[in-house]
Amino acid sequence: MSIPSSSLTAEVPPLNRVSQPAPTLVWKPESIIQRPRLAEVLPQEQPFEVEVGCGDGSFLIRYAQAHPERNFLGIERLLGRTRKTDRKGLRAGLRNLRVLRLEAAYSVEFMLPAAAAAAVHVYFPDPWPKRRHHGRRLINPAFVATVCRALAPGGRFYLRTDDLDYFKHMGEVCGACPLLKRAETPPDLAAVITDFERGFLARGVATNRLAFERLPD
Ligand SMILES: C[S@@+](CC[C@H](N)C(=O)[O-])C[C@H]1O[C@@H](n2cnc3c(N)ncnc32)[C@H](O)[C@@H]1O
Repeated sequence: MSIPSSSLTAEVPPLNRVSQPAPTLVWKPESIIQRPRLAEVLPQEQPFEVEVGCGDGSFLIRYAQAHPERNFLGIERLLGRTRKTDRKGLRAGLRNLRVLRLEAAYSVEFMLPAAAAAAVHVYFPDPWPKRRHHGRRLINPAFVATVCRALAPGGRFYLRTDDLDYFKHMGEVCGACPLLKRAETPPDLAAVITDFERGFLARGVATNRLAFERLPD
């Protein structure tokens, strides 16, 4: 039986069609059970900062551009927003940024090395304003304890919210943590506004900031 020559050649793609993996800043860990070594994720060894719930990456892109001497990791659970951060970061030519699509509290507890982050940023997390939903708030004593585990001594925990009740709650939870002391948000950091913050400010809604320093154990 003769085999048509077209079916023999169809199996092997021409060399110039062999696809290269598309460049991406999205970090896809080999395992989410073993704690990864961040040095393998970011090309240069330098201090690193994390934004939890980084949304479309507006803050991170600008801040990472302003600080090439630091590494940045964004954590975001929504695919569309993760992809947006990726696209914008690639367009900006950033080499010091990665974005991880994973649940925030899990990521901070299990994907970050201990006592290593120079800063953790949490900007405009959902305030869950109804009392019966307060248990869903990201900022709670257990989460703050995992942030303290991830922060290097002297590292900073920065928060922002438009919701006054959540602001009070953040201050109380972080203030009750013996490993944190109040600090100031540096003006150059405060000047970098986030996507949600831009929306609030445009509508005349005031935003509030908190900063804490990680004390030594
Ligand atoms: C209100 S938006 C703020 C986004 C950004 N920080 C800003 O200020 O523009 C909160 C972001 O956190 C993300 N987020 C909420 N809960 C999360 C979770 N449990 N894990 C990861 N991301 C989460 C949402 O998808 C959303 O992009």
